[in-house]
Amino acid sequence: MTEPLKIGLIGTGRIGQVHAASIAALPGLALHWVCDPFLESAKSTAERFGGAQVTADPADVLSSGDVDAVIVASPTPTHVDLIDAAIDAGLPVLCEKPIDLDIERVDGLREKARRAATPISLGFNRRFDPHVAELRRRVGAGDIGGLEQLTITSRDPAPPPGEYVAVSGGIFRDMTIHDFDMARFFVPDIVEVTARGARQFSAEIAAEGDYDAAVVTLRGASGELVTITNSRHSAYGYDQRIEAFGDAGMLQVGNVGPTVVRSYGASSVEAQGPYHNFFLERYSDAYRLELVAFAAAIRGDEQTNPGFEDGRAALILADAAARSAAEGVSVEIDPNA
Ligand SMILES: NC(=O)c1ccc[n+]([C@@H]2O[C@H](COP(=O)([O-])OP(=O)(O)OC[C@H]3O[C@@H](n4cnc5c(N)ncnc54)[C@H](O)[C@@H]3O)[C@@H](O)[C@H]2O)c1
Repeated sequence: MTEPLKIGLIGTGRIGQVHAASIAALPGLALHWVCDPFLESAKSTAERFGGAQVTADPADVLSSGDVDAVIVASPTPTHVDLIDAAIDAGLPVLCEKPIDLDIERVDGLREKARRAATPISLGFNRRFDPHVAELRRRVGAGDIGGLEQLTITSRDPAPPPGEYVAVSGGIFRDMTIHDFDMARFFVPDIVEVTARGARQFSAEIAAEGDYDAAVVTLRGASGELVTITNSRHSAYGYDQRIEAFGDAGMLQVGNVGPTVVRSYGASSVEAQGPYHNFFLERYSDAYRLELVAFAAAIRGDEQTNPGFEDGRAALILADAAARSAAEGVSVEIDPNA
């Protein structure tokens, strides 16, 4: 039997916990090093998931000579340097989104990332959601003919705190970034971005100069139109839907709940329980399947995870959306830039 791949996990916050749990659940992966400057968190994560060496310093993991790959789940400003260091250490890396909030920093690493001999994967997990993956497969198989319109709805159940918003880079770079990647999953070449933001309900978000709702329209190189609707709140829970429309039909992925049980009574029929609480629950399969794909890439199979260029492309769209919303203009994108 092949030995499990030894994984170094850098960052053990919200998303780091998800990756630790996925590693523990997958027989092909083993949590070997856990790193967090908040050492108590590194220790408790290692203990919870079967034991691993712990450190407060990512350099210990990267220079250990004792891991097959690293997962970067630390805050966004650390990503560029950690990807860079993983390349130098000859280690495959799965880095959380976004690569950075500053395209110049991303471009500073671009050439090196392009030449890297080891896989660099970006944590756009939604591509691995089984429902989304099936929708993508069927669009690719021609089930709806030519894709003409893609409609993405993404609403969070409740807004993040003001201190999170202050360092988030704004709704387009923080939240819509997943939807920009989803748009590119179906329409890789986007040539125009038009975005409008609104301050509808959160004084805290408005105080940070950010929007709590947004609508973005993207135009693809072949004339496809993509609409993204975002809100930082939703009274009925986490709202995640996609619709692909073509000349021969339409495909939809609706919201998913923990159970398909429906109840029927005097005051309502076909009633379902609430949707999944938030992204950790809704996309739990996707987070695990993205690691399955990463493991295959580490072992030398073709990389199917989104990579550095996908991370960069999504950030370019986010920057364009921020500019479009601020200036009230449409922004052209050079797909070859
Ligand atoms: N793919 C997704 O759906 C998804 C979801 C949530 C967050 N994220 C991304 O993951 C990253 C982390 O987000 P989070 O919500 O888990 O944050 P978090 O604040 O919950 O956790 C970050 C952790 O990293 C640690 N840390 C800080 N500096 C570090 C360093 N230099 N090296 C190692 N660890 C360090 C912190 O102590 C903390 O434990 C962000 O870039 C975020 O955008 C992605």
